[in-house]
Amino acid sequence: MSLRQRPRRLRTSPAMRSMVAETSVEPRRLVLPLFVAEGLREPRPITSMPGVVQHTLDTLRKTAVEAAHAGLAGVMLFGIPEVKDAQGSGALDPHGILTEAVRAVRQEVGDDCLVMTDVCLDEFTSHGHCGVLTPSGTVDNDATVELYAQMAVLHAEVGAHVVAPSGMMDGQVGAIRDALEAAGHHDTAILAYAAKYTSAFYGPFREAVASSLTGDRKTYQQDGANLREALREVALDLAEGADMVMVKPALAYLDVIRAVREAVDVPVAAYNISGEYAMVEAAAANGWINRDAAVAETLTSIRRAGADTVLTYWALEWAQRWAEAG
Ligand code: PBG
Repeated sequence: MSLRQRPRRLRTSPAMRSMVAETSVEPRRLVLPLFVAEGLREPRPITSMPGVVQHTLDTLRKTAVEAAHAGLAGVMLFGIPEVKDAQGSGALDPHGILTEAVRAVRQEVGDDCLVMTDVCLDEFTSHGHCGVLTPSGTVDNDATVELYAQMAVLHAEVGAHVVAPSGMMDGQVGAIRDALEAAGHHDTAILAYAAKYTSAFYGPFREAVASSLTGDRKTYQQDGANLREALREVALDLAEGADMVMVKPALAYLDVIRAVREAVDVPVAAYNISGEYAMVEAAAANGWINRDAAVAETLTSIRRAGADTVLTYWALEWAQRWAEAG
């Protein structure tokens, strides 16, 4: 048969496929989320996230240095305090675990790798909600936002380059921006978890941060049925002074990533979350899928959907693979 058009010609060899690849996942596009727990003597494995641990301050430092050497964009830090209370007061402790972690990591990596912090209270509260509660038990938006603003200033003071409010409280970005400006932290960037959906895929994260949440986050995180609402959340966060926006989770929301990418002209990040990681790891451990190929396909799909930056627990491993591939 004589055919003029044979798309397969462009798939004949690795060199050909590489030349025509439209999407790539360079290490500089990736951010590694890291957990650090107070009072640990050695890293504690997170059962539902094989290969991921709660770090000690010491192993956190070492891993952050590896992230910098591997050329990652940055690290996103989560702290787990020894004691949690209803107010999440560990979050505002100048010597609390997250504050110490930011200091330690910034001291190690300087400006070679971005130090980012998750600005939220759920790791610190005894009830596991992302904010403080009213007497009737709902999350108190405005009181919580005040605490986020103080938390963000504290993170900036101890060396965070980027603060990332993730609690989905109304007005959180504006309050943080005003507080940072008032405190003279004009260069601290805000990566807003702008379109953050309530999701079953956060499951393993609850173990990662030893969360005691019993209910759900449906009154503050978005409903998975909604796309237009994500665009509204993104527009509000940009109006309030966000520098970059995030969509989260990633895989069940690739259409949202694409829509946000087309709607705005700021950098867009996406968070390849704990349950997305766990699904691949669990299936691979059973021999049901090829792990490395599944990781590559996952990260490529999120970039192809339009994310400039991807937060992923595979970031370091991926960068090492990238370096070996030359
Ligand atoms: C809130 C926060 C969560 C995650 C990142 N920041 C949990 C939640 O909103 O329920 C989830 C990350 C993941 O699942 O990998 N502090």
